Amino acid sequence: MNLVLIGFMGSGKSEVGRKLAEALSRELVDTDAMVEARAGASISAVFERQGESVFRALEREAVSEAAAGEGRVISCGGGAVLDSRNVDALRASGVLFYLEMGEEDAERRTAGGDSRPLLNVGDRAGEIRRLLDERRPLYEAAAHHTINVGGKTLEEVVQEILEIWRR
Ligand code: S3P
Repeated sequence: MNLVLIGFMGSGKSEVGRKLAEALSRELVDTDAMVEARAGASISAVFERQGESVFRALEREAVSEAAAGEGRVISCGGGAVLDSRNVDALRASGVLFYLEMGEEDAERRTAGGDSRPLLNVGDRAGEIRRLLDERRPLYEAAAHHTINVGGKTLEEVVQEILEIWRR
């Protein structure tokens, strides 16, 4: 059984995943890192040189490979739920936790840096709102459990997930 983290950019999937993997002595698999390793380039470079559709194809391969393993903590890119094949593969492989947050948190937590090509746009706030509106139902439908991360520390989020996981 895999423990899978989904949610919007900046919701803390990577950090929470790292802590969970440590606490459970499991392997951490990060689909963004798999894409970067496979492409031999950063996510930004893949988007820039090859476009989003190539990125999504690489992401689908990464998700499929990640979900084929057992006993892992899998941290997914924020857009992984856009493809129902990813959702099916992940749900067949384990328990999905949605790290949920509101627009303001998403804005604050993704501020600074240009490592997220989808947010390198003029109207960042508007784009975050649009993407969240589009994706919220997908995250909710994909998840077995929703963890609201607003106002919580990393440690609190990790403990909340561990409590559910160990039930
Ligand atoms: C994306 C999220 C990113 C990365 C890519 C696209 C998205 O991952 O996969 O930039 O579509 O939401 P994080 O959620 O880890 O930032």
